[in-house]
Amino acid sequence: MLTALKPQPADKILQLIQMFREDPRDGKIDLGVGVYKDPTGLTPVMRAVKAAEKRLWETETTKTYTGLAGEPAYNAAMVELILAGAVAADRVASVATPGGTGAVRQALELIRMAAPGATVWISNPTWPNHLTIVKYLGIPMQEYRYFDAATGAVDFDGMMADLAQVKAGDVVLLHGCCHNPTGANPNPVQWLAICEAIAKAGAVPLIDLAYQGFGDGLEMDAAATRLLASKLPEVLIAASCSKNFGIYRERTGILIAIGEASGRVVTQGNLNFLNRQNFSFPPDHGARLVTMILDDEALCADWKAELEEVRLNMLTLRQLLAEALRAETGSDRFGFVAEHRGMFSRLGLTPEQVEKLRTDHAVYMVGDSRLNIAGLNRTTVPVLARAVADVLRG
Ligand code: LMR
Repeated sequence: MLTALKPQPADKILQLIQMFREDPRDGKIDLGVGVYKDPTGLTPVMRAVKAAEKRLWETETTKTYTGLAGEPAYNAAMVELILAGAVAADRVASVATPGGTGAVRQALELIRMAAPGATVWISNPTWPNHLTIVKYLGIPMQEYRYFDAATGAVDFDGMMADLAQVKAGDVVLLHGCCHNPTGANPNPVQWLAICEAIAKAGAVPLIDLAYQGFGDGLEMDAAATRLLASKLPEVLIAASCSKNFGIYRERTGILIAIGEASGRVVTQGNLNFLNRQNFSFPPDHGARLVTMILDDEALCADWKAELEEVRLNMLTLRQLLAEALRAETGSDRFGFVAEHRGMFSRLGLTPEQVEKLRTDHAVYMVGDSRLNIAGLNRTTVPVLARAVADVLRG
């Protein structure tokens, strides 16, 4: 049986981690996978997470199974963090999931059960795992234009023209904030138009919210999600705690399904069913830490303060990089780096130039020239700018 298996194509993001590890050069710079690093290159455990872990160790009395949907207190705290009361509670069903990817996967399985044959519309470009999961599940897929490579901004006209083709019952996969891989995001007026286009089509948005707190702050980053959730009859939200709580390996996420109040019990039952089929009970450790932090005033304030430090640090790095690139290349073509939000920006380099960055300068980024801003620091910004200027000279 196993001999019938064919090799799978390598995941381009995860492959970079391995190549970086194996590179013996001093001064190598990893701007690949989306992980926050402090100025010393460490991905720290956040203060509030450490404090919650200590408290959990002292007070936890059992590790028996949690519920299929996770702990109700976790789901309630996450729904509040994301929606802040934008939707009546009796319209909201939710399940804890293994990370944001688990939530995306469960959402797509739910879509396949509820609306077999519905097309999922995906931004071009998007996070590669969106494409592969949709393909793996055999769900029909279409792309909508999203990014204007010439300006580094959202191709809003192209996006709206493509969303006008969406059919009733289709699903539109959106990045709630901090678009991955481009870093370009619609403004509030554009979000309103996107919401209206989806309403007009009679489609359902699936919002991937993996970076709440990394762009313009916890509230602003949830604004588009809250807008869509409050205006549309049905909305799916796949959210991650990997980045904003820094608990990547704890696999902590949530899938929220908003619909008619009369259908909530059945929706919740289907979400529970999907968890049971795929992994039974969701992981609890990370979810419990998140709950302890969100439900405790002092821990929550400390978490928000540290998250804000992380966010502002990324914004400073964006400013510094935009300035350094201007100085090194003598052009304004990279000005968009300062305008983008979140961990990523797509620089607009060719795959050959990205390859040259790696071979000649030990700078690692994804082949589409997506770089992880949070992988930089004040020392590496000028090194990167010089390297980019060098590969541009050919
Ligand atoms: C990324 O895009 O780098 C992150 O979301 C990590 C991942 O799992 O790909």
